[in-house]
Amino acid sequence: MSGLKDLETPALLLDEARMDRNIARMRAQVRRLGVRFRPHVKTNKCHEVAQRLMEGPEGPITVSTLLEADYFAQRGVRDILYAVCIAPNKIAHVLDLQSRGVRMSILVDNVDAARLVAERLRAHPAGRDVGVLIEVDSDGHRSGVQPDSPELLAIAYALRNGGARMQGVMTHAGSSYDCRGWTALRAMAEQERSAIVRAADRLRGAGIACPVVSVGSTPTALAAEHLQGVTELRAGVFVFFDLVMAGLGVCEVDDVALSVLATVIGHQQEKGWTLLDAGWMAMSRDRGTAAQEVDQGYGLVCDIEGRPLADYILVGANQEHGIMARRPGLPADGLHLPVGTQVRILPNHACSTAAQYPAYQVVGPQGELRARWPRFSGW
Ligand SMILES: Cc1ncc(COP(=O)(O)O)c(C=O)c1O
Repeated sequence: MSGLKDLETPALLLDEARMDRNIARMRAQVRRLGVRFRPHVKTNKCHEVAQRLMEGPEGPITVSTLLEADYFAQRGVRDILYAVCIAPNKIAHVLDLQSRGVRMSILVDNVDAARLVAERLRAHPAGRDVGVLIEVDSDGHRSGVQPDSPELLAIAYALRNGGARMQGVMTHAGSSYDCRGWTALRAMAEQERSAIVRAADRLRGAGIACPVVSVGSTPTALAAEHLQGVTELRAGVFVFFDLVMAGLGVCEVDDVALSVLATVIGHQQEKGWTLLDAGWMAMSRDRGTAAQEVDQGYGLVCDIEGRPLADYILVGANQEHGIMARRPGLPADGLHLPVGTQVRILPNHACSTAAQYPAYQVVGPQGELRARWPRFSGW
């Protein structure tokens, strides 16, 4: 059995036991909440990982790109929500997927898009089966129509009158990433739930069927006390977790399943620097913890077994150089890692770090390499 020492660095490591634990935790929460689970596969973009997340081989799943939809459709997934408001130039692609036997759902959040989508779907034999959801803004985070606005009903009428299959409503409370503490997270989960249920009730009150009521982000999914009125939950980053999630308190640092294996390539002793062969290309430019209580730089450095080296982070990163040092303000403590030493670096944001790599190196409980699981990036 080969070990980490045989890997050329940087390499993306996936701790299988941690991942399975994270999945079990989310599954238990979904069961308790009594809703359907539609995992978001944008974090993992990998069949082997998604298989462990899905309710069955046909899904359902959420995707953030149509490349994800293509990839998972080729592997048997048949129920796919493309959860970014649709651009006109993607409708033909969606129709192609639907024609190939995939039940596709797409999003709109304004009347112009609703009219255009209805017209384009009507003109295609597979178009009447494509589900259309209205995206609702539950937290001012980005897209979506206000749940109490007249436009919500106008969008639904435009879809219905245009012959499109109005499937329901969805929202994503991305502001949960800015919450501090469980009380705030619980409140955000309830804000997300109550906004989407209000939108669904208004549509039903106007005589429009609304079978799907979909919510989700990892923090709100884990914080929700109940999801009355909701039919399905979406979450993605929980599968690996990351330092942003640990900073929010929704997981421990020990739950982070993804790390970058790097090697010591030199030192600047007088500065207290250890130079690694993993810079921002290996970690991504994501500095998601910069706004949190504990800024983890470009990543938290651990030993080869995955135990954090106290207060060592990547304080700086060039394209292929990572600068490892103690947190700013802390004196050097004499730690010297000889050239050739391997370390593991936990990422700020699992989605963006994973996106830099063509595969996961799957690590078993004894630190042994168990498998190489391919993944993809791009559109
Ligand atoms: C529409 C939508 N749903 C669900 C999610 C999953 O959120 P998380 O990765 O926090 O679980 C995302 C993430 O960006 C999203 O954009």
